[in-house]
Amino acid sequence: MDETMDIKDNVIVAPEDKSDGVSNSNGAKPSEFILEVKDLKKYFLAKKEWKLVKEPIVENDVQSENQAEEVNIGENSDVDKSVATDADVNAEEADRTPPEAESEQKKEKGKYKLKLVHNKTYVKAVNGISFNMKAGETLGIVGESGCGKSTMGRSILRLHEITAGNVFFEGTDITKLKSSEMRKFRTKMQIIFQDPYSSLPPRSPVGEIIGEAVKVHKIVPKSEFRDYVINIMRKCGLQDFYFDRYPHEFSGGQRQRICIARALAVNPKFVVCDEPVSALDVSIQAQVINLLKELQRDLNLTYLFISHDLSVVQHISDRVGVMYLGNFVELGDEKDIFENPMHPYTHALLSAVPVPDPHYKGNRIILRGDIPSPAHPPEGCKFHTRCSRCMEICKHVEPKFKDYGNGHMCACHLYPQD
Ligand SMILES: Nc1ncnc2c1ncn2[C@@H]1O[C@H](COP(=O)(O)OP(=O)(O)OP(=O)(O)O)[C@@H](O)[C@H]1O
Ligand code: SF4
Ligand SMILES: [Mg+2]
Repeated sequence: MDETMDIKDNVIVAPEDKSDGVSNSNGAKPSEFILEVKDLKKYFLAKKEWKLVKEPIVENDVQSENQAEEVNIGENSDVDKSVATDADVNAEEADRTPPEAESEQKKEKGKYKLKLVHNKTYVKAVNGISFNMKAGETLGIVGESGCGKSTMGRSILRLHEITAGNVFFEGTDITKLKSSEMRKFRTKMQIIFQDPYSSLPPRSPVGEIIGEAVKVHKIVPKSEFRDYVINIMRKCGLQDFYFDRYPHEFSGGQRQRICIARALAVNPKFVVCDEPVSALDVSIQAQVINLLKELQRDLNLTYLFISHDLSVVQHISDRVGVMYLGNFVELGDEKDIFENPMHPYTHALLSAVPVPDPHYKGNRIILRGDIPSPAHPPEGCKFHTRCSRCMEICKHVEPKFKDYGNGHMCACHLYPQD
């Protein structure tokens, strides 16, 4: 008998699976998810400035002044990186004292010495996001401008180097890959940008733009290149003769179709759609959304669909995540989020959706104040500065992001936290 087996009630059973269900690049078991994001963080260095601070002198620190200074410099020599780590992020950290300032500034005064430190402030654009996606589903992401939607999408694709966390794509942790190893994932993971005007190079014909990555990744032989690109163009509702035209000859809707064709030309499985219709007028928006849905059905695509237009998100999404200041405050099935929202922020967002009925007297919730700075997010619940239901605990204790059934997750003290 296999010694890893066990006997219970005279039945041979396999040992309990103690893994967390996440496979990795070293080839553990395949996951049911195409994408798994774990505690993803992306901080941007926002400000660096020199500051004079008082530093207490520790009793047993009886080294000479020079020795002490060497320690200060050595300990912090790796702090000056554009990518922050958790340890250096709270941002009031000593970097290095400039040599010419040393003797002037570092004079001891009683029990303190003066020290010139490098103050760093980080924008916590994405601050510990976790979620999973199944193949073929659409996860809509909503939230106010500046809450970190685009940064999250780009970080997942490694268009930004992340600060911390893991992104598993088909079981491989792509955050650990070298850029040469990342190449094969680049075709599988694509992005459609918000602005179809600036995201197309103006001096290349459309066929070349759509087919550029096809050539780079040698997806088809040269002899089949034109037919291959024209086929993709047709799928995206573009006519054959557009192949040799230039982007300025197209309307906004047509340009966005070109962007979609460019993303799909490399046979991706996962596409980040970053506000793909927000620059288009309403009738064209509907065409592009329907095109995205058709393509998803035909090619079994998985979409992370970012938008601040809730009706568009409701139309296209299977699940919806609501973001506030770099994190999810609510995540769940589209129906649960729109028909049974839990978080006060989701309530406020939904109350702002216009209803096409002149007699409808909605109960619009007006949020007080602006979204706080992601460089200095509030303590406790990050939404407490604007929440009409704020309680004392909300100001000090961060609520847990908990599952309240059917994968409907929410972070709010109004609901049981245990
Ligand atoms: N390259 C960067 N350098 C510094 N800060 C950045 C950078 N990119 C984004 N940020 C900051 O990160 C935060 C999140 O920005 P992001 O673009 O992800 O927001 P968003 O939710 O996509 O907003 P919008 O709906 O307006 O597109 C913002 O405060 C922004 O100023
Ligand atoms: S935790 Fe408190 S402040 Fe935050 S959303 Fe819930 S009720 Fe409002
Ligand atoms: Mg954005």
